[in-house]
Amino acid sequence: MKVGVPTEIKSDEYRVALTPVGARELAEHGHDVLIEKGAGEGSAISDSDYEAQGARIVPVEDVWADADLILGVKEPQPEEVGLLRSEATLFTYLHLAPAPKLTRSLCASGATCVAYETVEDRNGRLPLLAPMSEIAGKIATQAGAFMLEKPLGGRGILLGGVPGVPPANVMIIGGGAVGMHAAFIAIGMEADVFVYDTNIDRLRELDIAFGGRASTVFSSVLSIEERLPQTDLVIGAVLLHGARAPHVIRRSQLKLLKSQAVLVDVAIDQGGCFETSRPTTHRDPTFEVDGVIHYCVTNMPGAVPISSTYALTNATLPYVIALADHGIAEAARRSPGLRLGVNVAGGKVTHPAVAEGVGMEYVPAEEALGLGTPSGDGAAGADGAGATASRASPGAH
Ligand SMILES: NC(=O)c1ccc[n+]([C@@H]2O[C@H](COP(=O)([O-])OP(=O)(O)OC[C@H]3O[C@@H](n4cnc5c(N)ncnc54)[C@H](O)[C@@H]3O)[C@@H](O)[C@H]2O)c1
Repeated sequence: MKVGVPTEIKSDEYRVALTPVGARELAEHGHDVLIEKGAGEGSAISDSDYEAQGARIVPVEDVWADADLILGVKEPQPEEVGLLRSEATLFTYLHLAPAPKLTRSLCASGATCVAYETVEDRNGRLPLLAPMSEIAGKIATQAGAFMLEKPLGGRGILLGGVPGVPPANVMIIGGGAVGMHAAFIAIGMEADVFVYDTNIDRLRELDIAFGGRASTVFSSVLSIEERLPQTDLVIGAVLLHGARAPHVIRRSQLKLLKSQAVLVDVAIDQGGCFETSRPTTHRDPTFEVDGVIHYCVTNMPGAVPISSTYALTNATLPYVIALADHGIAEAARRSPGLRLGVNVAGGKVTHPAVAEGVGMEYVPAEEALGLGTPSGDGAAGADGAGATASRASPGAH
């Protein structure tokens, strides 16, 4: 199979979807790897690094025209959707639930579009979202601490305080991968940290992980509202798999916060979990609503590509190998977890939460891919997170 890797063209995006490690594994499996000239530069990977592992360096037109499987990081930009062929499979982050226009254009392309963020492992977790969530969580606290500085519009409070002066209060809503890593950094910076989640089992896990250095709180409208007046920094990190983010802070509640408090909405890629959020970029990351600073960058890990590219491709590679070895239909038949990643196929939306988010008809992936009744569910096999490239199949979930 021809596997293509274009350069990411979203604003301030420096990650690349395949490293030389992946190029070598694909070459070892007999695939032809086409890398756009300069695609790795933002992550300090040169064209010759790829060539040394058997890849070919080609112009961007050839990647889109020739590749059967196209690997990306962020969602395709409008000019890229125009290049997507109906026979191709696109494997990248898509975040379609809040993006009806992009969803419609991907349906119109006829291509099969597989979203990293809805692929699940055998435990129902998100192995291809987790590495970027870990990074975004750590950045969320760093960015929040920075934006709290007075010259940047914030309240002018130091996260950790100093002897004789209390630390800042940090509220983290959503204690998944983003929330836990945001909390670890906030704890390390010696803030007072409160993590909110609706999942009691998750709160139990966090309580053990924090070892008493942060508080866990059952998330509800009232419990959030009661803490807002003491809070300096709120990090929003909720997720309902594939769906548009629920609003956990409404505009009417902003007045409960201190003047020039900071909100970091990590869930902005799923539409944002604060009512007043709108997407921003690394170049212009914040805006103010009702005296509250909002930071809503949609590709936070893109700012640290040397960490992010390797964290991402470590996780995606087993799935990439499975897609290249078997093609989308057979790979999805073998792996129900990968099948959950299929968001668009045969011109239809094939993920229920995405269909609901964009208000379009839902068609099961099995039907759109012509798989009939799925078989092999529950079959033995490694999940994607643990598989090595040579154990190519992401297995049963
Ligand atoms: N902006 C970026 O650059 C960036 C990067 C990575 C991830 N993200 C996004 O961050 C979000 C979180 O990702 P994650 O990997 O941590 O997800 P996750 O599934 O690991 O965790 C989400 C948590 O939210 C909790 N939750 C759901 N509804 C809630 C509610 N109403 N109140 C409190 N908690 C609630 C869930 O129980 C779960 O523990 C996602 O939208 C993801 O796409 C953004």
